[in-house]
Amino acid sequence: MKAWRVHELGEPQDVLTWDDVPDPVAHAGMLRLRVEAVALNFPDLLLCRGLYQDKPPLPFTPGLELVGTVLDGPRTGERVLASPVLPHGGLAEQVLVPEGSALPVPDAMPSTTAAGLLVTYQTGHVGLHRRAGLRAGETLLVHAGAGGVGSAAIQLGLAAGARVIATAGGPDKVAVCRDLGADVVVDYLAEDFVSVVKDATEGRGADVVYDSVGGDVFDKSRRCVAFEGRIVVVGFAGGRIADAPTNHALVKNYSIVGLHWGLYRTHEPQLLHTTHAALLELWHRGRIDPLIGAVLPLAEAPAALARLGERGTVGKVVLQP
Ligand SMILES: NC(=O)c1ccc[n+]([C@@H]2O[C@H](COP(=O)([O-])OP(=O)(O)OC[C@H]3O[C@@H](n4cnc5c(N)ncnc54)[C@H](OP(=O)(O)O)[C@@H]3O)[C@@H](O)[C@H]2O)c1
Repeated sequence: MKAWRVHELGEPQDVLTWDDVPDPVAHAGMLRLRVEAVALNFPDLLLCRGLYQDKPPLPFTPGLELVGTVLDGPRTGERVLASPVLPHGGLAEQVLVPEGSALPVPDAMPSTTAAGLLVTYQTGHVGLHRRAGLRAGETLLVHAGAGGVGSAAIQLGLAAGARVIATAGGPDKVAVCRDLGADVVVDYLAEDFVSVVKDATEGRGADVVYDSVGGDVFDKSRRCVAFEGRIVVVGFAGGRIADAPTNHALVKNYSIVGLHWGLYRTHEPQLLHTTHAALLELWHRGRIDPLIGAVLPLAEAPAALARLGERGTVGKVVLQP
């Protein structure tokens, strides 16, 4: 079979090669899947660059979430949503996934949609509900709202009954956030989001800030977080990890909440399943629906990852073999 592999670290277009590799062999506890659709995530880019917190041995195949059809055993033919185990990620024609983490996909849900329902939505659900304790009626500020993580958080925030303010870079992405239903949208490349948030909340600020950008965006978020607000540190797409002055958290009575969804897979494996059930329920009720910005052939993985790194994508990019 074919798989994209990284042999040395660098930019995806320089380091990904389309290799012939042996078919994986199903064994105890692992399901062998034919990949139907694999969704890209910013961490795939960071993995190629060697900048992600997990550093798989070389050569490795990126790809953190996919829908595949089971090829062996009693579950043959079943479509599941799953995370493969690095170094053997999902940017391949076949993959092994741990049986216990394979999630059901409703018959009515296309594989391209389902592929986008794992990393960003689980992160959003756990981040907003469990880590930030978002309550109905609160104001949620979602940064980079047109991205994968951001678009999921807008939908989940609205589904939770929050008032959602989204930021995005440029008019096209602003329009995407509006279409997703955000109540207020700021082009944060052109406008100061701090004053927009303060104006929209009568000076109070946002109760929850969902920050996947970091750097200056985190620094400014501290200025428009509400009394007893929570800033959820989701990621650093902007490239700089901000320092948080703890005296500022004290004088404004807010919390800085770390979020690394992947850790729950070892700390509390059952959460994957209960969160998936909650997400499917929201999908059945029409409250969430992954924004699939592009569906491309798997052969275009390096170019697609490059576009992700250049802020050139909206929602999820899904690849199909
Ligand atoms: N904590 C967790 O468990 C967890 C889970 C999944 C992902 N993450 C993290 O969340 C972040 C977003 O991931 P994603 O998959 O949503 O990525 P994505 O779809 O590419 O969205 C990232 C967005 O960040 C904004 N951005 C701002 N500065 C940027 C820069 N210098 N380069 C690229 N993008 C920039 C862009 O939106 P604008 O153009 O609108 O600014 C971009 O669309 C990443 O840092 C990722 O590692 C964390």
